This record gives sequence, C-alpha cells and structure tokens, in this order.
Amino acid sequence: MASIDKDSLTNTFLVAIVVCLVCSVAVSGIAVALKPQQLLNKELDQKQNILRAAGMLDEGAVVTPDGRSVEELFSEFSVHVVDLDTGQFIADRDPSLFDPIKSAKDPAQSTKLSNDEDIATLRRRENASIVYIKRVEGKLDKLVIPVRGYGLWGTLFGYLALDSDLQTISGLGFYQHKETPGLGGEVDNPKWKRLWPGVTLFDASGSADVRLVKRRSSSGSAAAAREVDALSGATFTTRGVQNLVNFWTGELGFGPLIHRLKAGNG
Ligand SMILES: Cc1cc2nc3c(=O)[nH]c(=O)nc-3n(C[C@H](O)[C@H](O)[C@H](O)COP(=O)(O)O)c2cc1C
Repeated sequence: MASIDKDSLTNTFLVAIVVCLVCSVAVSGIAVALKPQQLLNKELDQKQNILRAAGMLDEGAVVTPDGRSVEELFSEFSVHVVDLDTGQFIADRDPSLFDPIKSAKDPAQSTKLSNDEDIATLRRRENASIVYIKRVEGKLDKLVIPVRGYGLWGTLFGYLALDSDLQTISGLGFYQHKETPGLGGEVDNPKWKRLWPGVTLFDASGSADVRLVKRRSSSGSAAAAREVDALSGATFTTRGVQNLVNFWTGELGFGPLIHRLKAGNG
C-alpha cells in the first residue's frame, strides 16, 4: 500500500483550508448566537446612560443604593418619537423601531444644514428624533434628549437631561466618542460631569447659550449660571461640546419641543 505523505504541499494546504473553514463556521455561529444578547446589552447600556444623565443612577453603578434596578428606574420614562420642526409627538411611530441617527443619513428623512446652522458639524439633521420623559403625578420631572456633535477626532454621542423647569441641566454624558484619553476624553471624567447639574441653558432672550469657559464670569451673575469649566488642553473638544449642547437645545434641535412642553402642552 502506498504511504501518504503527510508533509506534502497538497496535504498542508488541505489541512489549513479545513481548519480555516471549521474556525470561520464556529466564529460565525457564535456571532449569530450572541447577537440577541449583544442587542440586549446595548439597550441596557443606553438605558443606563439615560438614567445617569438624568441623575437617577450614579456613575458606574448598575443599581441605586436602595436597590432599584435599571429596568425599574427606566420604566418611569415614557419614550416618544418627536417631529423636530414642530415639537409634536408622532404617536403612530414606534420608538423601538426608529433610529434617528440612521435617518439623518437618509435625504428623505433629514434636512441639510447650512454652514451657519451646522454648529455641531452634523451636515444633515434628522426630521424626527426620540425623547425620554419622566413625569411625577402627571407633571414633567425630567426630559432627556439625545445629543451629538463633532469634537476633534470624531462625533461625540450622548444624552442631555433637563430638570422640570426645562431650563436647568440635570446632567450630560457621552456613550461614544473618539477624543484622546486625558485630553478631550476628559468628557468622561466624573469630576467634570459633576459640573453640569444646575447649569442654566437659556439666556434672557430664550436662546440656548451654554458656555464652556477658561475663566468664569463673576459668581452670581446670569452669565456665570450658563458657564461650565472648559477641559484644559482640549479646546476643540470643549468647543464641540458647547456647540452640540446649544444646537440640540436650540431651534433646529429640540427647541420647539422644549417651548411646547414649557407652555404645558404635552
Ligand atoms: C496626540 C494629541 C491628541 C490630542 N487630542 C485632543 C483632543 O482629544 N481634544 C482636543 O481638544 N485637543 C486635543 N489635542 C490638542 C489640540 O491639538 C490643541 O493643541 C488643543 O486643543 C489646544 O487646547 P488649549 O488651548 O486648551 O491648550 C491633542 C493633541 C495631540 C498632540
């Protein structure tokens, strides 16, 4: 019987191809099997970010000190799709099936921004987005809006929460960005994030005018109430954060919704 040459070129390639095929089938199978869990984790992460912005969950915590879970806390929110131009809720649109960021890329579902309008460097703004509203005894207690805008290296994605007066910031947090750790990446520093609650959003004329400053105005002044310390050594990221907050709370963002809710409608 002719002996098989295990070390022949053909056999070496055959073994390599079989190993590759087995591995790729295994990896693809695992990826498909884990997809539902990945989606659940993504959803849980999103809920945690919303709750942290709203000041309802501490940084890094997954339950409150009194044992309330993310799901329990998040169930206090109602989720709405909102027409950004009118500020009206779109009742027949299911928020769980709607991705505002995806729709911003679709010319049929978004609006091109002019250079003057586009302070957050978005190019296009979606026509509809999603908001999270917490009510206590029927009265609005928190409004959380998704925000995004360009920093130095890419777009920062996050949530901004407003208190019941829709004038005072509850918190701001980013769940995705490309800024440099230690510089622009300090947007994630809990110490810096603690500077946001209590900051006033609108100036006397009602325009969104938060300022990230190197030197604060004299304490007690109206200007100081709208100021947050800039990130040192990260002027571009700082400017990006200032612009994205003012864009999304302004007239081209959630401004029409904020005015409508302030007037007690919805
Ligand atoms: C490797 C590297 C990474 C940087 N990352 C950031 C960043 O994430 N955000 C930012 O605003 N500036 C970043 N900078 C600094 C900017 O280039 C610029 O010098 C800085 O924003 C100026 O800020 P300052 O006026 O507060 O000193 C980085 C610089 C270097 C060399």
